[in-house]
Amino acid sequence: MALNAASHLVEKALGHNTDDTSATSGIGNPARDNAAHPSGEKMKALAWMGKNDVRIIETDKPSLVDPHDVIIKVTGTTVCGSDVHLLHGQILQIKKGDILGHEFCGIVDEVGKDVKHLKKGMRVVNSFVVSCGECRFCVQKLTTACERTNASSLHDNLYGSKTAGIFGYSHFVGLYLSDVLVTSYHAVQDTAVYKGDTVAIWGLGPIGLLVAIFAFKAGASRVIGIDNNFRCDFAKKKIPGIEIINYSELPKGRTVTAEIHERVPGGVDCSIEAAGGEYAKGWAHSIELAIGAENDTSELLNEAIMSTRKFGRVGIIADYVGFTNHFNVGSLMERGIRLIGCGQSPVQKYWPEVLRMVESGEVDPSVIVTHRIRLDDIAKAYYMHEKKQDGMVKVFAETKFSHPKAEGIDQPDLKFL
Ligand SMILES: NC(=O)c1ccc[n+]([C@@H]2O[C@H](COP(=O)([O-])OP(=O)(O)OC[C@H]3O[C@@H](n4cnc5c(N)ncnc54)[C@H](O)[C@@H]3O)[C@@H](O)[C@H]2O)c1
Ligand SMILES: [Zn+2]
Ligand SMILES: [Zn+2]
Repeated sequence: MALNAASHLVEKALGHNTDDTSATSGIGNPARDNAAHPSGEKMKALAWMGKNDVRIIETDKPSLVDPHDVIIKVTGTTVCGSDVHLLHGQILQIKKGDILGHEFCGIVDEVGKDVKHLKKGMRVVNSFVVSCGECRFCVQKLTTACERTNASSLHDNLYGSKTAGIFGYSHFVGLYLSDVLVTSYHAVQDTAVYKGDTVAIWGLGPIGLLVAIFAFKAGASRVIGIDNNFRCDFAKKKIPGIEIINYSELPKGRTVTAEIHERVPGGVDCSIEAAGGEYAKGWAHSIELAIGAENDTSELLNEAIMSTRKFGRVGIIADYVGFTNHFNVGSLMERGIRLIGCGQSPVQKYWPEVLRMVESGEVDPSVIVTHRIRLDDIAKAYYMHEKKQDGMVKVFAETKFSHPKAEGIDQPDLKFL
């Protein structure tokens, strides 16, 4: 949170750099940011009102601001582990009144004058990444490295260079192409899971579960999922062959690393961190995070590094936002571990192949969906997701534009929260 506040000050001092950006506006809430639609129509939205405070508000329907803008009637949306980091005020630059939500599908309602491929009435799914399609990274489909969709100067200064604009940080299964499916696929591709590999995954949320599915598809011989709650049993039920470490059930003093070395002598070929840098385990990091002495704990990464065999690979797909203390750089160097920051997933790069897998039934994203709810209840779903209540893994939130639940297919019934 300290870094969050500091980032606003830095941002203010540095200003926006809009010399070569294709997204100049940075609208976080149309009513607040003078971007109301000329029709005067209103819409519901979920807004971040402060740390641990999100609410459904009524705000203006947005207008087209930049010539590449598109207005969508949303037919389905959801909550993501990244939204929980936002709820906690963990992500830099969030401001009171900002509208959340980066995974959604819908119907095109209006298009800006430079939009070439979309027309009113088309059904579309959003990518959580905003990409210009033209800069040197976008032409290689590394869309999250886009240099033109984030007018903020903060990343240049904090990370060394700009990254793309991200939604919200700002149909039923199709929705999950916005983020979770492609992100998990990217984690497996980018960290590189080879045929026969043993793989360990930290976190069995939607991302970790789908990473496990894609790791098996890539030929992994064993996949070990690590978490501390009901999601361990959920994973066992949904993913045949997965092995589980529920670290809350390990004998006192027994570490995850020791458990992995016993099961896979020498360590796994490949580890993937899919939990998050804000989840401190021990008191030392809890305190350091609370007082702003670090922004992310190194505990999960140290576990992953030490649990990986010499010259193996550790990929980070979970969100990490700043600096960390007590990082075991010695184990990384001496044991020749490759540490891979997977970045925000370049969604557009993988869309064609992942869409093909979903259409052909090779991959079924509905395995992670546990709840169907109304948009009006989505603030409650944030708190339930955060607290891991009611067996929640992933929700489908319907809007007034959604079709009712299709008969005869395996989807949860609408639940009023
Ligand atoms: N890089 C990207 O493009 C991208 C995209 C989407 C989400 N993410 C990030 O991926 C992460 C996972 O997303 P999600 O939607 O599955 O989140 P989630 O919050 O639903 O799941 C995270 C899981 O990690 C578990 N966990 C917490 N501490 C742990 C520990 N010490 N060891 C093992 N497990 C632990 C939690 O119990 C939880 O089940 C989040 O950090 C999210 O922000 C990254
Ligand atoms: Zn997401
Ligand atoms: Zn670009």
